[in-house]
Amino acid sequence: MEKVQRVYKAHCLVLPFPLQGHINPLLQFSKLLDHKQVKVTLVTTRFIYNTMYRGSSCTAFESISLETISDGYDEGGRAKAESTQAYLESFSKVGPQTLAELLEKLSGSGCPVDCLVYDSFMPWPLDVAKKFGIVGAVFFTQSCAVDNIYYHVNKGLLKLPLTDSKILLPGMPPLEPLDLPSFVYDVGYNPAFLEVVIGQFSNVDKADWVLCNTFYELEEQVVDWMTDFWPVRTIGPTIPSRYLDKRLEDDKDYGVNLFKSNNDACMKWLNEQRKGSVVYVSFGSAAQLDGEQMEELAWGLRRGKSKFLWVVRELEAAKVPEGFIEETTEKGLVVSWCSQLEVLAHEAVGCFVTHCGWNSTLEAVSLGVPLVAMPQWTDQSTNAKYIRDVWKIGVKAQTDEKGIVRVGEVENCICEIMEGKRGKDIQRNAMKWKELARKAVDEGGSSNKNIDEFIAILVKR
Ligand code: UDX
Repeated sequence: MEKVQRVYKAHCLVLPFPLQGHINPLLQFSKLLDHKQVKVTLVTTRFIYNTMYRGSSCTAFESISLETISDGYDEGGRAKAESTQAYLESFSKVGPQTLAELLEKLSGSGCPVDCLVYDSFMPWPLDVAKKFGIVGAVFFTQSCAVDNIYYHVNKGLLKLPLTDSKILLPGMPPLEPLDLPSFVYDVGYNPAFLEVVIGQFSNVDKADWVLCNTFYELEEQVVDWMTDFWPVRTIGPTIPSRYLDKRLEDDKDYGVNLFKSNNDACMKWLNEQRKGSVVYVSFGSAAQLDGEQMEELAWGLRRGKSKFLWVVRELEAAKVPEGFIEETTEKGLVVSWCSQLEVLAHEAVGCFVTHCGWNSTLEAVSLGVPLVAMPQWTDQSTNAKYIRDVWKIGVKAQTDEKGIVRVGEVENCICEIMEGKRGKDIQRNAMKWKELARKAVDEGGSSNKNIDEFIAILVKR
């Protein structure tokens, strides 16, 4: 069939930080732009490009182009670097040069770039955008609440190590130290990452746009506070319209996976389960559970009444108790990766035991799935605080003095959501937030209007 030549309003280069949890929202945002007649070129590192699985059902790459830059580790990626610090230094040295080469190439291609949308974890692309005279839009992948905390650390308004037992920040409920991101409450834990998250604010004042992966109604007070400083626009949730808005045909999954998926097996199994009967368990793409924690979780799932679908990434598989998978086939399915959106949208799923990564949180909010929060590190503790106390869409599993969630607690938390009285209130709240998320991305909704405004100003330049 002959290809129809599309007419575009503008051309955006979209550059995520090379991690699954950052590629997903920026790829989803790219699809939204593409749908609104903006040409998008998604840029990844060469290593990611060569190793990613492209979903066979993803139609996005028929119109979204893929290009690469270098982080200095084209063979082997981040795992080959001596340390996170060494990787980041290399990326900030080699990245700008190869990004500039790409922009040169595209400027002579007949479809020059108007705007660079770049991940806030890397401030350096803004200098490249300025050099080329194009719009620089920084994209914050995490919640505005978390951004607010890092901003206060960056400005020295929240001093580390923490000394107060109650932390008061504008637009946020009173927080205890353990509600803050792990890099903040445990300063020595990962200094390189602390530098990254604080560095997000090093040149944000010079960005033309500050795009936030959230929706206004979800974080109203923090967003209002941020809007006093920067040209903030909330654009989330970036969930494919297939799930939130049935008017549009969209693809089945995110489109790019850094892990090989067993999704067909998941869907087949879920299709055989009763409505609302399954507990979905996943800890995202990066968290590494303590071996003892993995065992407690496994036995907790086995002991509970509900069936479960548990994602255990290949690198974590050795921590699952021996024989557990074979002996639990009646009760649960363990897979190494799935299309999480499709799973969360499935009517059989009644609860999500999650590490509270921001994407997982926003996906559950948008699909109305109640949560059992088991935060592990980075921003997840703050997300868990909001899940339980602000949005009231889940419970938080309590840890013992060793920081482990024990078998009984796993079982009780799941039971509370699936069968308890509190579970009913939580389900009602989850449905309320689902509806608000849908409205935000619908015609005339807060995020939809913000994206339209962003595009309109690009077009006027
Ligand atoms: C990391 C941090 O943990 C997170 O807190 C931060 O906001 C982004 O970077 P990650 O640990 O991967 O992300 O968690 P999360 O943010 O939840 O992102 C995981 C993504 O992978 C989600 O979009 C989820 O839908 C997807 N996923 C996960 C799958 O598609 N299949 C799976 O089996 C598991």
